[in-house]
Amino acid sequence: MSENRSSALIVGADPYLIRAALRNGIEPVVVHGPGLRDWGFIGIPDGVETVFAEDTSSVESVLLALHRAGLADRDFDCVHTGDEFALVTVAALGEVLGAPVAVDPDTAVRFRDKWLQKEALAAAGIEVTRSRLIEDVHHLDPASVEDFDKAVLKPVAGAGTRNTSVVEGRAGLIARRAELRRAGMPQRTFVLEEFVAGDEWIADGVVFDGELRFLSVSTYGEPCLSTVDFNRALQVEVFDPVADAFAYDLARSVVEPALRALGLRRGTFHMELFHQPDTGKLVFGECAARTGGLLQPELVEAKFGVDLALAGLRCAAGTDPRIEPSVRPDTIGSTYLNNRPGVLVGYPTPAEVRALPGVEYLRLELPYGFRMADALASTTEAVGQVVLSGRTREEFRDRRDSLTAWFDERLLVVPAHASYPELRRWQKENWPESASSFGTYSDD
Ligand SMILES: Nc1ncnc2c1ncn2[C@@H]1O[C@H](COP(=O)(O)OP(=O)(O)OP(=O)(O)O)[C@@H](O)[C@H]1O
Ligand SMILES: [Mg+2]
Repeated sequence: MSENRSSALIVGADPYLIRAALRNGIEPVVVHGPGLRDWGFIGIPDGVETVFAEDTSSVESVLLALHRAGLADRDFDCVHTGDEFALVTVAALGEVLGAPVAVDPDTAVRFRDKWLQKEALAAAGIEVTRSRLIEDVHHLDPASVEDFDKAVLKPVAGAGTRNTSVVEGRAGLIARRAELRRAGMPQRTFVLEEFVAGDEWIADGVVFDGELRFLSVSTYGEPCLSTVDFNRALQVEVFDPVADAFAYDLARSVVEPALRALGLRRGTFHMELFHQPDTGKLVFGECAARTGGLLQPELVEAKFGVDLALAGLRCAAGTDPRIEPSVRPDTIGSTYLNNRPGVLVGYPTPAEVRALPGVEYLRLELPYGFRMADALASTTEAVGQVVLSGRTREEFRDRRDSLTAWFDERLLVVPAHASYPELRRWQKENWPESASSFGTYSDD
């Protein structure tokens, strides 16, 4: 490491953080887990120093790895992560290594634990959904739970809508407890939360010195939970700060007090809210103290020209993020390109997708041969994701819907659970020249 270059310890192989560091003269040292090689999709640029840790969400694992690599005494300008599961680890590492971080351990805890988060907001007088902590779901006595109509049961510190379900009354809770026991679910602590209806909104932004410095508001096509439950494509549309000023005013009225109550003084955040169209009310859902996943960094870059990863790194180092948005009036949004149950054997080339109108960014993630289970298990599963633009909302939506239909028609998936005669018919339909029948009576 050169003497006067700044350096950042990045926990998790986050391509946006690595890119932001490299573009801005910050030397990244990347601690990655086994997932990087197991999945083999993300490349680390040549020359970037990497450290392997078995579990990037464990302080022990990361510290041991840093010591083995002889890096535990290095002066880093910040320690940072974009990984939800490494947030508390990084906060603790900051203390151990004596390096600046965006989020201190107490604050990190309030952002990771969904129950503590709601408690902190309620204590600050902010209206929140009623939620009940279930310490160990395997051993829950349903009689100890006041009866209810409809609620959401979710891991207290999960992500990606995984193992999250709607439960109807005590009977539903008992059934779900049985399922979780049968599945040998390692997660034990859950939150049972009153069901909130409404559209789901997202607030992505940056705070520095306790002040909101940047805000982008967008909306999911439909709530994440129904997207997963009904195997639909996850879609996001960014609101325009001028044309949809009402959305920004409304979001700000919840975002600012919520961040204050949670104690986030600097860093990026990703908040989810429920918008109730009948009352116009915006209800707090949850908030992460990191940049949003999915394609949120790309959406913010496309709509505002803002690099959230860079803002995150600067905040972590304690320097002003210096954000200067330049807003594009176009409608910008994203869609997943969904898979189907079975074995993936073909999809259009990246060049073909990029040639379609309005495509701004494309990521095709799954290799041929990938086997998809019968249903989606989280919001992180798709063949790919794309960012699109349109001069108007209508043009954007037309482009998005025709692209998803076009891609789906060209997606080749050997259907799951098909019998051999069905597989033969499928082969004949898709590769007529390759199909043949028993050759005794004919030439084919
Ligand atoms: N109280 C609730 N009422 C209605 N829907 C809810 C509620 N809590 C969660 N959900 C639904 O479940 C999804 C996942 O819940 P939540 O956002 O709390 O957990 P997560 O797994 O951390 O999410 P993410 O997908 O953002 O990582 C939400 O996006 C929302 O669609
Ligand atoms: Mg969420």
